[in-house]
Amino acid sequence: MSNFVRIKKKVNRFNKSLSIDGDKSLSIRWALLSSQSIKKCKSTNLLLSEDVYSTLNCLKKLGVKIKISKRFCEIVGLGLNGFKYKNNSILDAGNSGTLGRLILGLLVHSKKKVKLKGDKSLSKRDFLRVIKPLERFGAKFNSNFGKLPIKIQGTNFSKPIKYYENKGSAQCKSAVMFAALNTQGETIIKAKKSRDHSELLFKYLKLPIKVIKRKKYDIIKVRGKHKIPALNYKIPSDISSAAFFIVLTALVKNSRLKIKNVNINPSRMGILYILKLMGVKISKINIKNYKGEKIADLVIKSTKKIKPINCPISLNSSAIDEFLLIFLVAAKANGISYFKNLSELNQKESPRLKWGSKILNKIGVKNIITKSSIKIYGNPNLRIDKKIIIKNFLKDHRVFMTSVIAALSFGGEWQIFDKKSIDTSFPSFLKKVDQLGANIE
Ligand code: S3P
Repeated sequence: MSNFVRIKKKVNRFNKSLSIDGDKSLSIRWALLSSQSIKKCKSTNLLLSEDVYSTLNCLKKLGVKIKISKRFCEIVGLGLNGFKYKNNSILDAGNSGTLGRLILGLLVHSKKKVKLKGDKSLSKRDFLRVIKPLERFGAKFNSNFGKLPIKIQGTNFSKPIKYYENKGSAQCKSAVMFAALNTQGETIIKAKKSRDHSELLFKYLKLPIKVIKRKKYDIIKVRGKHKIPALNYKIPSDISSAAFFIVLTALVKNSRLKIKNVNINPSRMGILYILKLMGVKISKINIKNYKGEKIADLVIKSTKKIKPINCPISLNSSAIDEFLLIFLVAAKANGISYFKNLSELNQKESPRLKWGSKILNKIGVKNIITKSSIKIYGNPNLRIDKKIIIKNFLKDHRVFMTSVIAALSFGGEWQIFDKKSIDTSFPSFLKKVDQLGANIE
């Protein structure tokens, strides 16, 4: 089977309802936390993607028993600091930054040495951001100049830390929270706002956590060494995956889409706020609370006039995985859009600020970038009638899927490589595109 798709035609208008795969952040956190429980934990609607399989495989290497079927996944936890594995075991985090960073937090007490490696993209990413705080718990790290592969040797004598997380990274915050769970005493984190799934899961499990919310940051206090009860969880749909279809609907004339059961955690809602500011109509119905998270069905309508935006930097973290898509919407806006303080985007599976700009260049949309900002000259009459090839983007799943959405929205003749990358986060992506009547070869 070829590893590319060809798209020669825009999608026709649609009026449909879709369901989307499970949330990646929650799936990985469910598995990692369940491994620390003293009970059998069960999840349904777990995202069956490569990042989650990498998580389960790492846990299996650490001695955790896992049963998986299409309908559910069961993990028999080993309790805090209960991993059982051979000295110098090798864990492969594949493409997943979330797994790579969070699992190091759980290994701060590892009695034996463990090596963590990843794929080409993950091996280019910064791990110093988690090594630095985790070293302060007492663990020893040996890394490739702050990058993978990393060797970690845990400590028996850890002490709690005070940590200031200033990047707005939920991965750094969560790695420290996971290490704190294993450490006697109180760890105190001052964290710039970022997704708060770990905090909500800790609260739901009644672990000793206090969160004090300030305007720009949160103070999180975690006390360690408590037994973790069973974590049974039905994973809601991922807003970051839903985002591809939210944007497609906004850009395709006379269309309407309902997406069911989406996690609308406020710390992930940046995409909805930003699109609303750009004039896109999205409503939330059937809003429910589920174990601390918020869930709703989303109804999106296509948008005739897209307004340009001076994107508030306070929304950056809550839309961090959606900016490639947001740039597409800005490409069709009636004026110039500005996005600032986005250097973190270049720390993702690929340098997405740089490559977002490259994609805009390919579709003929003027833009100016710096190290941390982009200015996009929108064109409300944007139409593509040339050949575009998307290749060599470090197999970034979000580059692939964003390119498919651009092709289906703006036309042109596209050849988009690295089709398999969808397995990282959204294996059923092309099936969903098909359900909307798109013609993809
Ligand atoms: C994630 C946090 C974000 C996000 C990633 C998932 C998480 O990364 O980009 O896809 O599950 O904690 P950072 O925390 O590095 O910003």
